[in-house]
Amino acid sequence: MSNQPLVLGIETSCDETAVGIVRGRTLLANVIASSVEEHARFGGVVPEIASRAHLESLVPVLQSALEQANVSLRDLDAIAVTGGPGLIGALLVGVASASGLAIGLDKPFYAVNHLAAHVSVDLLTHSLPIEPAIALLVSGGHSSLLQVNDITQDVIKLGESMDDAAGEAFDKIARVMGLGFPGGPALDHESLTGNPNAIDFPRGLTQSSDWLSRPFDFSFSGLKTAVARYLESTPNYKRADVAASFQESIVDVLLLKALAACKKTGIDTLVIAGGVAANSRLRSLAQQRCEVAKLRLRIPASGLCTDNGAMVAALGSAMAAAGRAPSKIDVAATSNLPVTTVQI
Ligand code: KG4
Ligand code: ZN
Repeated sequence: MSNQPLVLGIETSCDETAVGIVRGRTLLANVIASSVEEHARFGGVVPEIASRAHLESLVPVLQSALEQANVSLRDLDAIAVTGGPGLIGALLVGVASASGLAIGLDKPFYAVNHLAAHVSVDLLTHSLPIEPAIALLVSGGHSSLLQVNDITQDVIKLGESMDDAAGEAFDKIARVMGLGFPGGPALDHESLTGNPNAIDFPRGLTQSSDWLSRPFDFSFSGLKTAVARYLESTPNYKRADVAASFQESIVDVLLLKALAACKKTGIDTLVIAGGVAANSRLRSLAQQRCEVAKLRLRIPASGLCTDNGAMVAALGSAMAAAGRAPSKIDVAATSNLPVTTVQI
């Protein structure tokens, strides 16, 4: 094990300042400081506040990750950082810090894609190689269906959300229902006591014509409107039932499309990644449906689904193991980095 590369991963694309350290595929440290409470009263992440919080938190988070892993900076074999997509000011803090460390330590530097990192964190949970796999990537900013031929360099986009990302839809509906921010975990919790079949909310892009024209794309705007209308027209609504029915609609569509992508491509492994992969109903229904369809299901450990540094370290480690050339030290953080660009 000790001949495996020791890789540091830095994540600052949104409101988590996070550092992870892995040796090969073994997680040694995962430290996260979140500025979520500073954004809560605005109902969403405020970019300037996030950037400032990264500046304040990065060095202490780095120090405690090194302590947790019981290693020093000089022991590291490579430095990885989220290069995009994300908030530009927030990304810049991580990229500048990581390239500074790489120059100072004279170590290879990998600026990687946040979304590919979400998928590759599964390498720390499951032992088989990921590829080939269909990845359902569901976070606060993205919902995509991907064909992963090689997580270090060959990711194909099969479809994506036409409007809100799945996590965004959770956050917005939770807000309307007074469940706070971020809404995903709160709505998940509220749903536990609700009836998922109480209200028949629409399933976006699942008409037969949609299956022909947009089989792997998502749309959650109709669902959002339907929930808002229901809340308005039903003063005595049961909150848990609305939460559970809304959640069921999203989860149902995500899995219908993910399983259809497996069937169409003949790929028998499904990876579910990103913050929404922490959702308890998505996890249990995915397990049931994959068992029936005889698919191998991989979902990272629940604590590794939302943003963290371990996922960036995991992808950096996969890059190093595959012998990929490091990034140029002066790469530009790229806020709209396409999901198919694994490394900048
Ligand atoms: O991947 P992530 O941490 O950040 C982005 O890259 O966007 O995802 C955050 C999103 C938020 O929208 C949050 O509400 C959602 O993931 N989320 C959940 C759950 N935990 C986090 N959504 C549904 N159920 C959950 N348990
Ligand atoms: Zn993320």
